[in-house]
Amino acid sequence: MSGLAAVAAVLRGARHVLILTGSGVSAESGVPTFREAQTGLWERFDPRALATPEAFLSDPALVWRWYRWRRELVRKAEPNPGHFALAALERRLPRLTLVTQNVDGLHQRAGSRAVTEYHGNLFATRCFSCGESPAGAEPDDEMPRCSSCGGLLRPGVVWFGEPIPVTALQAAARAAADCDLFLSIGTSSLVWPAAGLAEAALAGGATVVEINLDATPLSGQSHHVLSGKSGDLLPELVNCLLV
Ligand code: OAD
Repeated sequence: MSGLAAVAAVLRGARHVLILTGSGVSAESGVPTFREAQTGLWERFDPRALATPEAFLSDPALVWRWYRWRRELVRKAEPNPGHFALAALERRLPRLTLVTQNVDGLHQRAGSRAVTEYHGNLFATRCFSCGESPAGAEPDDEMPRCSSCGGLLRPGVVWFGEPIPVTALQAAARAAADCDLFLSIGTSSLVWPAAGLAEAALAGGATVVEINLDATPLSGQSHHVLSGKSGDLLPELVNCLLV
């Protein structure tokens, strides 16, 4: 049995599938990953100067310029066959929880309905001072301000040193404890607490599958590893499920 057929067989029998995606899933849409040599965002930009509360306090205009550039990249991008295959899986499986570390909204644009955004969303904003997410704010203003308190609005993403939004944290932890199949797709499994979801799933006895171009710290603990592009492998997996 090929690796794909074996994973399709586990999928067919699964009661609750938890999928964790990372930036590799959007790579084929032209959205850069973070840690890949040459092309990864953190290879080209210093996260301490752009993705921390301290960076925002010291130069909010610079931080906003960088996030507007990323918004533009994502606005021009389209979901790829990997995103569409995951949306198809949601429709076919009795219970699927999709947790993404991605902030690009491409899963939703591909038709995934229930997406837990672990690291927030590039197009969301909230007030740096009062925490409100005011309706009708104009996030593409040069320096957007909160309509409630006048404080500076910031991108609604999780920065280094910040906690995961509590509803996402709890929903993902519950799913990790409950799932019987965990799929890690297109993530380096280096960033915590997201990387801990696989550990929790393993501890609960779930089968763990990794889909990635490269080996990661999770590969050795995974029951199945499918090496390749998620935009190729995920549609093939959905096809395998159908036969
Ligand atoms: P990374 O850049 O750390 O890892 C991307 C992974 O995707 C690598 O393991 C690649 O080998 C793999 N990959 C690349 N192209 C792929 C493809 N077409 N198909 C399958 N796999 C592919 O990105 P993340 O793991 O998403 O956090 O990074 C996690 C977090 O670190 C991000 O959410 C972000 C970053 O700092 C915040 O901004 C809070």
